Amino acid sequence: MRTLGIETSCDETAIGVVEDGTRLLASIVSSQVQLHAEYGGVVPELASRKHVEAIIPVLDEALSGAGCGLADLDAVAVTYGPGLSGALLVGVNFAKALAFSLSLPLVPVNHLEGHIYAAWLDTNGEGPRFPSLVLIVSGGHSDVVLMEGHGRYRRLGQTVDDAAGEAFDKVARLLGLGFPGGPAIDRLAAEHGRAKTLRLPRARPDGEYDFSFSGLKTKVGRIVRGEEGGAPEAAELAAAFQESVVDSLVTKALEAAASEGAREIILSGGVAANSELRRVLAERSPLPVVVPPPELCTDNGAMIAACAHYRLAAGDLAPLGLDIDPALKIG
Ligand code: KG4
Ligand code: ZN
Repeated sequence: MRTLGIETSCDETAIGVVEDGTRLLASIVSSQVQLHAEYGGVVPELASRKHVEAIIPVLDEALSGAGCGLADLDAVAVTYGPGLSGALLVGVNFAKALAFSLSLPLVPVNHLEGHIYAAWLDTNGEGPRFPSLVLIVSGGHSDVVLMEGHGRYRRLGQTVDDAAGEAFDKVARLLGLGFPGGPAIDRLAAEHGRAKTLRLPRARPDGEYDFSFSGLKTKVGRIVRGEEGGAPEAAELAAAFQESVVDSLVTKALEAAASEGAREIILSGGVAANSELRRVLAERSPLPVVVPPPELCTDNGAMIAACAHYRLAAGDLAPLGLDIDPALKIG
């Protein structure tokens, strides 16, 4: 069973081909990072236009990478939310046209759910160990979710303000590191190494497994502007910021996993590419930790195709009137 997965929820035009939900045949990602970098963030209208230009070449590349043609596909899957409306519309309408013209089932996929399914791509047969505690950390979300089975989620916590990736992006801007900020902070913090002197606070919002990162961002801003006395190097500040975010994420995920009796922890979403987060979670977790390779943590179409395999098995098909849902949640 070969599924094509289409992802255009933000600033990557991405298409993947996956066989039987776990075998990765192709994953092509056309990133718009350069286009948006000069504005310091994603410009929605530009993103939609770029998706329109890129989507057919990306499809051609994905099919040739997978060594197949349109006639070899069994289903077409697409992200229908959450994300930017105009960007989502490009992918959804393209998917509808493909499914209709090829007489294939159209499978709607929640982007956040897609991130989770990247965990089982090409894992040599290691399947899920439910219940799994999932930490989804991306540019728009920071969710702690208990996955009880395929398609069965209970959200235990979320951010009360900025998402983890958003915090990385904003702090990178404060440090003059450009966009996207996550990889830049990751690299700069690594230069500083692990001998840290500066310790930044960890927020404690009311919800047991909730996060808050905007106070931390404000604190970094004050330090950068010299309002807190002293002037640490940018690398030290990046390392201290990253350490604080990673500690909050890992601590809450481990507490939730213990209290819910989870059998494994899955780390997913763009921020899961962070080297320190991967290292600290693996070091502190008493449970097996499943983390996709960095290129499958950030947005891609293969994760959408992987998820769709299980949605299709559950009979979750979309009519050709499928609409986008920009504010879609999980659990
Ligand atoms: O999942 P994703 O590709 O798109 C969304 O669904 O939002 O996540 C993008 C986010 C950005 O905020 C980016 O700065 C962050 O993931 N990110 C990272 C790293 N790589 C990407 N954050 C920290 N460290 C990284 N290495
Ligand atoms: Zn994402």
